[in-house]
Amino acid sequence: MNGIWTYADFLPRIPEEKRLTIGEGHTPLLRSRRIGAALGLDNLFFKLETANPTGSYKDRFAASAVSHLQTIGAPCAIGTSSGNTGSALAACCAAAGIPCVLVIVEGAPAGKVCQMQVYGAQLLTVKGFGKDPEITKNTFETLRILAREMNSSPMISAYCHCPEGMQGVETISFELASVKALADCLNVFVPSGGGGLALAIALGFEKWRGKHPGFSMPRIHCVQPAGNDTIAGAIRSQSLRSRPIERSQTRISGLQVPSVLDGDKVLQACRNSGGTGQLVSDEDVYFWQRELAVKEGIFAEPAGAVSLAGAVAALEANELSRDEPVVCVISGIGFKDSPSYEAMAGKFPMRTMDSVEACRIEIKRSLSD
Ligand SMILES: Cc1ncc(COP(=O)(O)O)c(C=O)c1O
Repeated sequence: MNGIWTYADFLPRIPEEKRLTIGEGHTPLLRSRRIGAALGLDNLFFKLETANPTGSYKDRFAASAVSHLQTIGAPCAIGTSSGNTGSALAACCAAAGIPCVLVIVEGAPAGKVCQMQVYGAQLLTVKGFGKDPEITKNTFETLRILAREMNSSPMISAYCHCPEGMQGVETISFELASVKALADCLNVFVPSGGGGLALAIALGFEKWRGKHPGFSMPRIHCVQPAGNDTIAGAIRSQSLRSRPIERSQTRISGLQVPSVLDGDKVLQACRNSGGTGQLVSDEDVYFWQRELAVKEGIFAEPAGAVSLAGAVAALEANELSRDEPVVCVISGIGFKDSPSYEAMAGKFPMRTMDSVEACRIEIKRSLSD
């Protein structure tokens, strides 16, 4: 099993014995069964990054980043996370036998925090980190310097901090580019916080085109919650620069980063590809998270459903043509974010029956309703 190293020719040069994989990548591309038909999108697909070993696309980042640490002989990993990067890093560090220290954003969901601890990572948090742009920027800078002092490299999932890790994420595009059914006029909708994921997908397609000259570049659409519109808002208002906001107002875990990381490059890459910026409300995201579960059998975390909410917003704004293929990147799995799934599950409460006979009668009644 090669994981992301199937595409080693496109990735940072890492000696074979230092290449780490935990079985990431090669995730399913599922054709929509019901939502696409209801929206009039005949070619709607979901890229299930939920199928990665720790439940998100960040495993691609961590496999590449920790391989880099092994190559430079780093004694430890020092990183930041809203939850998914940390879980992926903690798992890869456990596999590599490297201690992992993570500074976590304020208010990360308990399931994500717990997952990182299960893999043995040491966790710290800083008040305002991930919400206030100054504190966030300061935390990134401090850890960046500290990592270098410790003969390591900062494990932060953005090109501006850790390009070696982000290149692992580009493998999503190599996998999509290999699918014949998506060959022309492809639209890819990407949930975005700091923008690293969207940039990785755009750069991945560009690299693929470098080696396959006939390949037509997909349109990359950057989707953000309206309460954190640093990049998509700037694209929509024709601005040339992404913009930090004073305090993130969205509740969508993973997409709250208020400072601009890879934002300017994402903005340019989306525009160059003919893509758009889409803004969606938290309520719409929760709605589509539930629709994914009950109409497609896909259990996404809220951030993972943002791509679908963005595709719907683009349709409503006449910015997406119904006959073009659409891929929504479902970037993370639902299990980690209990408040969001408890809200969905509450609609189907479990009842205790007094006897098997009462149970039999209830099943017949409910199925004949
Ligand atoms: C599930 C999920 N989707 C999307 C993102 C957004 O990634 P980026 O900050 O690179 O835009 C994150 C970031 O943590 C995430 O956890």
